[in-house]
Parts: sequence; structure tokens; C-alpha cells
Amino acid sequence: MSGVAEEPRGGFLAHGQGETEAAGRDLAALIEPGDLILVNGEVGAGKSTLVRAALRGLGVEGPIPSPTFTIGRLYDQPAQRMPVSHLDLYRLGDLAAEEPGLLSEYLGPDRAAFVEWPGGSDVQLREMSTRIGRVDIDHIDSESRRIRIEPPA
Ligand SMILES: Nc1ncnc2c1ncn2[C@@H]1O[C@H](COP(=O)(O)OP(=O)(O)OP(=O)(O)O)[C@@H](O)[C@H]1O
Ligand SMILES: [Mg+2]
Repeated sequence: MSGVAEEPRGGFLAHGQGETEAAGRDLAALIEPGDLILVNGEVGAGKSTLVRAALRGLGVEGPIPSPTFTIGRLYDQPAQRMPVSHLDLYRLGDLAAEEPGLLSEYLGPDRAAFVEWPGGSDVQLREMSTRIGRVDIDHIDSESRRIRIEPPA
């Protein structure tokens, strides 16, 4: 019952939104079709900020609105390296366990997906994906975040 909380946290400190966006662009370079990126962090941590930059890196043009009031958005424009989805499952809860079809348009072997608040849909998401990656963002102060990235593997 000791030590776990003391394990090294790793990652790096992003000072300001621009550095978080740079991390998103770097991650985009590693993304392949079939990849699922689980994006974790508290409200306002910077999940959408990082994901937006990654989507830009994959070639998405135009507005990238927050998917908070939809389950997700699928971007499939000619300039993109591959179709890519941006999901926010905050309000979905465990529904995907009963209705896996809710996720089917967003994930698959020909597309990548970034998922904020994966929560109880974790199992379904993994089953629909080829490789899994992870981003964890901790709020440090108003401009600083600790970001850990596990590239998809
Ligand atoms: N280093 C930083 N990285 C990311 N965002 C930052 C940073 N510093 C300040 N911010 C601000 O924090 C906010 C992050 O908002 P964002 O929507 O990306 O969070 P989120 O994790 O997606 O929240 P939610 O859980 O509500 O979806 C933005 O207003 C952004 O400008
Ligand atoms: Mg968000």
C-alpha cells in the first residue's frame, strides 16, 4: 500500500497553448489508419486543443468545433492523409456498451480516431481499432500542462 503515488510522472511541461498544439502536431506524424488515441485529462486540461492541432497535422481544414454536444465528428476531406474522427464521450456514459453501433461510423481500419472522455466505452473503442495510443494531460497552472504521450502501438 505504498509508493504507487510516487511513481515518476514522466512527460513534459507545455508552457502555453502553442506548446500543447506542437505536441498534437508531432503526434499527428505518427498516426496511421486504424489508430485510436485515448485522450485523458480533467475539464479544461487542453484535450480539444491538442486534438485540434493533431487534426490540422493530418490535413483537416476549416472549423474544428468541439464535439461536446454530438458524440463526434468525422472529417474526410481530400487533402487529409486519412479520414479522422474527433469524439467527446463525456455525455455518452456507458451507452456504447449497449449500443456499440453509436461508434461505428467513427472508428475502423481505414480511419483514425481521437477520443476525449472515453470512460465506459473503452472496451468497444479498443475492439474497433488496430493500434491504441494515449495522451494524458494534467493541469499545472493557468498556462502550464504536463503532457504524457504514448504513441499508438
Ligand atoms: N498549455 C496549455 N495547453 C492547452 N490549453 C491551454 C494551455 N494553457 C492554457 N490553455 C487554455 O486551456 C483551455 C483548454 O481547453 P480545451 O477545450 O482544450 O480543454 P478540454 O480538455 O478539451 O476540456 P473539456 O473536458 O471541457 O473538453 C483553453 O482555453 C486553452 O487556451
Ligand atoms: Mg474538449
